[in-house]
Amino acid sequence: MKKKKPKEVKVGQDSKWMCMCGLSKNLPFCDGSHKQCSGEEDGKLYKYENGKRMEVKKPIF
Ligand code: FES
Repeated sequence: MKKKKPKEVKVGQDSKWMCMCGLSKNLPFCDGSHKQCSGEEDGKLYKYENGKRMEVKKPIF
């Protein structure tokens, strides 16, 4: 399973953590929301609403 966690970007001596999961409410920065993604199963699609995970059975594209 590929983990969705923030990516560190160095800006001078400082570290900035960039959101790689898309759930942050402070994009492009990580706000810790990626913790909701732990336990996702490969090959499944999920959506998150109000911090609650729901599996999407039939995606509409
Ligand atoms: S990586 Fe997206 S909120 Fe942390």
